[in-house]
Amino acid sequence: MWSLVAPATAALIAASAVNAQAGVVATNPNGATNPDKPEFYPVGAQVNQTSLSRLLSLNGVDDFCLFGPMEPGPDSLIGNTEPTVVSWCTKPRNNARLIPDGAIHAAHVIKTPAYVQIYGFWDGTKVNIPAGDSGGELDPHGAENLGNPIGGNVTSNIVDGKTDVFYEEWMSFISFDQFCLRICTSESPGVPASLMCEHQLDIMGCRFVMAIEDFYSSNNTFTFCEGENAAPPGLYPQPRFTVGNTVTPTGPAFFPKTSNCVTYSTISNGVDFKNLMVTAAPTVLVGQSSSVVAVPTTSQAVVTTPTAVPTFPASGAASSDASASGGKASGTGAAASGAASGSASTKPSGAKPLVGSAGLIASTVAVIGVVVGAIAVF
Ligand SMILES: *[C@@H]1O[C@H](CO)[C@@H](O)[C@H](O)[C@H]1NC(C)=O
Ligand SMILES: *[C@@H]1O[C@H](CO)[C@@H](O)[C@H](O)[C@H]1NC(C)=O
Ligand SMILES: *[C@@H]1O[C@H](CO)[C@@H](O)[C@H](O)[C@H]1NC(C)=O
Repeated sequence: MWSLVAPATAALIAASAVNAQAGVVATNPNGATNPDKPEFYPVGAQVNQTSLSRLLSLNGVDDFCLFGPMEPGPDSLIGNTEPTVVSWCTKPRNNARLIPDGAIHAAHVIKTPAYVQIYGFWDGTKVNIPAGDSGGELDPHGAENLGNPIGGNVTSNIVDGKTDVFYEEWMSFISFDQFCLRICTSESPGVPASLMCEHQLDIMGCRFVMAIEDFYSSNNTFTFCEGENAAPPGLYPQPRFTVGNTVTPTGPAFFPKTSNCVTYSTISNGVDFKNLMVTAAPTVLVGQSSSVVAVPTTSQAVVTTPTAVPTFPASGAASSDASASGGKASGTGAAASGAASGSASTKPSGAKPLVGSAGLIASTVAVIGVVVGAIAVF
């Protein structure tokens, strides 16, 4: 809608409107450390808590990823680590790290015709964000237009509920206690995806940029809603917009209406953090009921026997051992993988499957086989 946007953006919009969906679906290569597809770890795999995957997905209230620093420590302020943050997910997916249960205090997804967004509150220290860090903004552009983080990419299956799509335009704000992420999934003639996912309002925060009326009263709840589109961030439908206005606005143009909201009591990742092994196909909360459905497991990672688990960052002032993996190498000798590996090795054992038994290998192959057919390939 032309009426939605300010005169200053008219030229940009006119140029962009020529090709209706240009700039919506990503066309450039995926990040170098990302898996080719946003798949779940297979049953039998161990989640890699030192992964460098930078692939986010946002599919639902309990199936999303956010960025967090590679390593814990006071130097990991988001402002310092924007180019290198990595993906942390609520489910074992994307070859990425797993957000521990309890870290997400609230999560609210809104699906609109133009975007899907999530916002909420968390204990960001569980994903290496220093306590008290007021955070920063992540987006697909960055200083060299390679993305912030470099190689960061996003997918969602929100449009039809099953097809994973890589999208070009997104923005995310994270701090030690808050997060929000918007992925632009379409555009209308007046509002290109780049405008609806405008990424230069760093200091304004989630409530303003993502037009969330109840943001500060939404802690400790979990919802999935549909909604109408917000005005693009920082733009005001005429006649309220005034050119040359230098006063920081107190709120967005309007707070969009939501509908068909479903409330959930909590979310969980389904993985035992003691050994990080994926022992069952992930399930996700969907739809109008809070039923749990099985999701096909896919072939992202190598099926392996459990190995010793690195100390989880939150527990540690962990060693700042700069291992190439970016991981914390400090080991508790951790407990209990129940694994064949009796060694107290403090690092994951690498990509090679340790499985010695033909039986296990056979079942691995079977899982992978299922997968290939099961997921819509983008
Ligand atoms: C990955 O991100 C880069 C940088 O934003 C972007 O140019 C590219 O199109 C994205 N690729 C995919 C597959 O999402
Ligand atoms: C975990 O990810 C790191 C960084 O990509 C990699 O070096 C390491 O081999 C991975 N571990 C496993 C078990 O795949
Ligand atoms: C949200 O609630 C949790 C308790 O579940 C609390 O620990 C946290 O501090 C709250 N976050 C904010 C920003 O108030």
